[in-house]
Amino acid sequence: MMSHPPKPAALIDTPFSYDASGLSCSGRSLAELAKRHGTPLFVYSETAIADAYRRFSDAAAGENSLICYALKANPNIAVIRLLARLGAGFDIVSLGELQRVLAAGGRADRVVFSGVGKRAEEIRAALEAGIKCINVESEAELHLISQLAADMGAVAPISLRVNPDIDAQTHPYISTGLRNNKFGIPMQDALRLYRDASRLPGLAVHGLDCHIGSQITSLQPFLDSLDRVLELAATLHREGIAIHHLDLGGGLGIRYADEDPPTPGDMLRALFRRIRQWSQSQGIAMPEVLFEFGRAIVGNAGVLLTRVELLKPGLDHHFAVIDAAMNDLMRPALYDAWHEVVRVLPPGASSLRKRWDLVGPVCESGDWIARGREIDLAAGDVLAILSAGAYGMSMSSNYNSRPRAAEVLIDPEGGDHVIRRRETFQDQILAERVPLHLLDPS
Ligand code: LLP
Repeated sequence: MMSHPPKPAALIDTPFSYDASGLSCSGRSLAELAKRHGTPLFVYSETAIADAYRRFSDAAAGENSLICYALKANPNIAVIRLLARLGAGFDIVSLGELQRVLAAGGRADRVVFSGVGKRAEEIRAALEAGIKCINVESEAELHLISQLAADMGAVAPISLRVNPDIDAQTHPYISTGLRNNKFGIPMQDALRLYRDASRLPGLAVHGLDCHIGSQITSLQPFLDSLDRVLELAATLHREGIAIHHLDLGGGLGIRYADEDPPTPGDMLRALFRRIRQWSQSQGIAMPEVLFEFGRAIVGNAGVLLTRVELLKPGLDHHFAVIDAAMNDLMRPALYDAWHEVVRVLPPGASSLRKRWDLVGPVCESGDWIARGREIDLAAGDVLAILSAGAYGMSMSSNYNSRPRAAEVLIDPEGGDHVIRRRETFQDQILAERVPLHLLDPS
């Protein structure tokens, strides 16, 4: 029997572990991947993504349910394709995301369209594609969709996204279900707008939707907002407005440090139990139940590999300049987010142990990835920034004219597949033009 060192706490909930080759995934050495594909490099485990999705779909087995994947967490077409093959639906927030689903062979009739500012051309394209539902976020949008659908001679399947005014107890930037957030329709307006929706041309009321935020680590906010949603659904039923599906959004958190979020199974079972009780006590048929998970499906399935460029020890601050920066992983700069950082190989004799600030090369003091981490480092070391599978690549940019990183998917046998090649300089200037009058040398 092979014996490996016990899994360090940082790697719990991830598909990464140490073996004789150092940090590895599905038997594949990450040090070797860094050498082969260069850094910064996003590496995702196919097995981990599929397993995370299945934890949701297994918990929903036997229920009338659709687990959608919120593309914004990681919209690579290989990730979409993998999830489409497992039967996932998709939550999109733009035409670009719809086009990604279709390009990856996903089914439009499993797509729900959220977002506060959908444009006319996006709504038209969604209707033409035959999507499952548009989640309407305002009165103005309701009228716009009605008019566009009527003009097309189409009927738009809609839900209203209500704002249940629930504190998701998460970072304010990723909290969406409070009254003062821009998202959703206030509870007190919902009934009136549902009545309007049931009369307006070009609309068919299908469901009721809410999403209260992201990286939520306790069950209570989900249960509280479900209660408000169910109360409204019962009122609508009494009005003769049938709600065929409930869309309960996404937002289940993951472990970045020592968080202890509910498991997908615990969460879904608790929600289904409550919906079933409601259905029986109200004498209303069980609705289809939709979810829109992003982070909990891909977050811990990925790492960002980075190389230490140089060390800059100082008097009271010790900087390790790494080749990944805020343009690759924006979460620390934007949310003060914590990402665990681990070595890919054991330290060498020349390593220095200090409390390092890991900073990128971008010209901003906010360009840091991790601060005050006690770790042995030497120039040239490869590090893995954990929990980078969600909102890493999808929020990356070319700031400082840095090429976007490459992405590699590790298949269950340990094979590596470049699912996005590293950007070239040509990629960066492809859409830019110098006007003729500036080309004139005089
Ligand atoms: N549905 C809607 C309508 C959403 O707005 C979101 C996320 C989701 C589903 C998926 O939420 P998830 O299951 O991934 O928590 N950039 C931030 C997260 C922003 C989330 C925005 N909306 C971060 O890096 O933490």
